[in-house]
Amino acid sequence: MTYEDRPLVRALQNFQSRNPLSFHVPGHKNGMLSGLPDNMRQALVYDVTELTGLDDLHEPAEAIKQAEDKLSRLYGSDRSFFLVNGSTVGNLAMLYATVRQGDLVLVQRNAHKSVFHALELTGAQPVFLSPDWHEQTQTAGTVSLENVKYALKQYPNIKAAVFTAPTYYGVTNYEMEDIIKICHSYSIPVLVDEAHGAHFIVNEAFPKSALDLGADLVVQSAHKTLPAMTMASFLHIHSQLVSVERVAHYLQMLQSSSPSYVLMASLDDARYYAETYNENDYARFLLYRQGLIQELRSIQGVEAVEPDDGLKLLLRAEGHTGFVLQEALEQQGIYVELADLYQVLLILPLVKADYDEEHANTADKFRRAVKSLTDKEAAAVQTYFSPPSSLVSVTAYTAKQLHTMSTEWVHIEQAAQRVAAESIIPYPPGIPLLCAGERVTEEYIKQIQDLLAAGCRFQGAINMETKEIKVVGN
Ligand SMILES: Cc1ncc(COP(=O)(O)O)c(C=O)c1O
Repeated sequence: MTYEDRPLVRALQNFQSRNPLSFHVPGHKNGMLSGLPDNMRQALVYDVTELTGLDDLHEPAEAIKQAEDKLSRLYGSDRSFFLVNGSTVGNLAMLYATVRQGDLVLVQRNAHKSVFHALELTGAQPVFLSPDWHEQTQTAGTVSLENVKYALKQYPNIKAAVFTAPTYYGVTNYEMEDIIKICHSYSIPVLVDEAHGAHFIVNEAFPKSALDLGADLVVQSAHKTLPAMTMASFLHIHSQLVSVERVAHYLQMLQSSSPSYVLMASLDDARYYAETYNENDYARFLLYRQGLIQELRSIQGVEAVEPDDGLKLLLRAEGHTGFVLQEALEQQGIYVELADLYQVLLILPLVKADYDEEHANTADKFRRAVKSLTDKEAAAVQTYFSPPSSLVSVTAYTAKQLHTMSTEWVHIEQAAQRVAAESIIPYPPGIPLLCAGERVTEEYIKQIQDLLAAGCRFQGAINMETKEIKVVGN
């Protein structure tokens, strides 16, 4: 194979074919000094550095530039970047490129922690917008156009808006195009965390990418849904409001000066996989998916829920939590993406036409797992969710300011009008009820008390035994 359509993969192959002697970093010297088992060590011959013919991620001019140009053409961006530290670094770079200390940023409240970290690092001030509750998946969904309009009216000085779509559970935002338009009418750049949507491009049956809907900056974890290695991700820009140079500038600062060539080659390959994905491939995927769903639904007590993104599937076992189901599946050698109170989340393989594995064997394992549950006591699966008390809220202090302040633990009943020092997150659904820096109102207190009484679990600065939360000192 010549790998003509994968410039970086080809460059690495060409380099290796010369049997190069390594007198350069990395120290494993093409794997020679590595103590890893042979099958792992084999990959190290490609774990090289910025050598002649292999280009430089931070100043791409040859193979990496060609690979990124192909990526950009596929996704229809002005420029696309390879990321070697996940969508995490993409979220950081998107915010650094668009906001400064003290700027207001509209942020969907159920954002990934990297967005919160970006706010902390930039010193920008979030205006949190609550997502709608998504009944079908029993998870926090996306934000509505109506609520975005409301937030923008209240805070017309917002400098950037960050949305998350699809969610981890495959919930898309069907109003995204209009949301982007309304943000643009205020000259606000739209940053979309599309970590779970790198595969949307392969077929129209998948939801549309926010990039196609007019978003300025879109980050995608290629490693989550395309066949790329863990951490390997894409960042696309298509904007009249954000400069490509600023994004490149921050990526240079935030990404390693020794990016992994194996990761980057896997990005080149993942792009090629998406680019060559055709109707026959999608037909095979559908057959695989429908076959699996049919088998799963034939198991008594099992519910298979299909979210907007066809690559995701939720599985519920009547009377059992997702955690118990996950454990039973693992006993059969099936590892799912995650479990919550209600269900487990499966991320299906985006197979192509040549996939010929039968899933009857897989279905049997699912069946055995569910059967093993019959001996276990059924748990009352209760919904603990209560919608956040305010649709739009700003913090009293930025995360950066909070770091310089003293904190103390106080009983929840004495916390009214104090400022939360850290976030308090009922889990599930995992959306912060109180974000760090937000003022504690009577309404928040009541919600926390109700959730505690219902036995809800929390993450963050709350002691569930003493019923204390951490607040900023007086
Ligand atoms: C919505 C969302 N955004 C960003 C990230 C971070 O992505 P990565 O693991 O590629 O850094 C995740 C990871 O799970 C995520 O779910």
